[in-house]
Amino acid sequence: MPEIIVDGGAALRGTIGVGGAKNAALKEMVAAILVPGRHRLTNVPDIADITLMADLLIHMGCRLQREGDSLWIVTPEQLRPEAPLELVRRMRASIVVLGPLLASCGEAKVALPGGDDLGARPIDMHLDGLRKMGAEFRLVHGVLHGEAHNGLRGAEIELSFPSVGATENLMLAGAVAKGETSIVNAAREPEIVDQANHLNAMGASIRGAGTPIVHITGTPDLQPVEHNVVPDRLEAGTFAIAAAITGGDVTVTGCIPSHLRMELSKLEDTGAMVEKGEGWLRIGGPVRPRPVDFVTLPYPGFHTDLHPQMVALLSVADGTSIVTENLYDARFRYVGELSRMGADISTEAQHAVIRGKEELSGCPVLAPDIRAGAALVLAGLRADGRTYVGDAHHIDRGYQDLAGKLQKLGATIARSE
Ligand code: UD1
Repeated sequence: MPEIIVDGGAALRGTIGVGGAKNAALKEMVAAILVPGRHRLTNVPDIADITLMADLLIHMGCRLQREGDSLWIVTPEQLRPEAPLELVRRMRASIVVLGPLLASCGEAKVALPGGDDLGARPIDMHLDGLRKMGAEFRLVHGVLHGEAHNGLRGAEIELSFPSVGATENLMLAGAVAKGETSIVNAAREPEIVDQANHLNAMGASIRGAGTPIVHITGTPDLQPVEHNVVPDRLEAGTFAIAAAITGGDVTVTGCIPSHLRMELSKLEDTGAMVEKGEGWLRIGGPVRPRPVDFVTLPYPGFHTDLHPQMVALLSVADGTSIVTENLYDARFRYVGELSRMGADISTEAQHAVIRGKEELSGCPVLAPDIRAGAALVLAGLRADGRTYVGDAHHIDRGYQDLAGKLQKLGATIARSE
């Protein structure tokens, strides 16, 4: 397994660009299965999850070609409406093919994703919504067999929680279903707005994306288009926290600072200097961060995928912080690894109490998931001595060359395969 080796102590300085958002690009690739033809996405990050989604689309009969940050997807007239376990298990986001496959093929066989690194992660809201649109499901030997032989029809769907994946699945299905679909208590993430923009450019009629109620008028007449993926606020946020934890001064370009309002405001509360303009933000790290409490929530709340990186920062704060995680029951799995580096963190249910220490101390640790892996790298940047972050393949799922980019900013960091 790859490993990232960090020698702590260097304050990061300079300018770094971010790529397109993984969590938007993955679903925008899936939008291609709604209509045959040649689709193009630009600003697509070169990360492992994109390769996995490409494998899934190829399995379904699409052809894909990558050139730089552009991805061409050629969708055939006839798709193979299947998502096998080996792909779904490696990337839970594969479940988002369910709605579009049912809408365009009238059937789908998708292996049930089950839980993952972050906990149980049910898909009940995806299924309830699609049932309201006329789909029927049977579970056969771990594979979900979905049918909608008379096509999907629009429906009013209330989500009990603003699930990102369920909103996207239903938006994709609703775009080509017969009639009107409303999604009430929809997720409001910028990636959802980007997906709606993509679908609307294809000829769909989606209104209200980015608000709690999304209205969709289905149409059979979508066209392939070219679409530029929205910048990755999670990559930008990770570099911002990296600047803060090293007491550095970093400008992040190619990002949309308004997508990180809550996270930047919390960073300011730690004493970091935050400046922003159109397409860039600049973070100047405090010598020692102040403690800050935060709670993860759906957008525009503090993003759960920036929680571990922020906890790494707070682990060297001058005081005690309290963090509440509201999205995932297993998100705190990295705490044991951070504690091995000297952090003083205790957890109880969805709460963590972080008693800031003056120093962390480098040692071998293992990345339990994408964002926790990034958090351990960030802790290594601040720690005394050398940190070995093993299982770095998790980090590769969501970051394009994290070590290389941090090195450009002055970190002493290397990767070993
Ligand atoms: C997406 C992101 C992930 C991010 C998350 C929350 C992608 C590929 N992944 O995941 O990085 O952390 O949004 O911002 O875009 N839930 C149910 N039933 C459902 C669906 C969800 O109980 O049918 C629960 C989940 O277990 C979780 C919460 O709702 O506790 C939020 O999940 P959701 O918003 O759906 O996240 P994902 O789309 O899976």
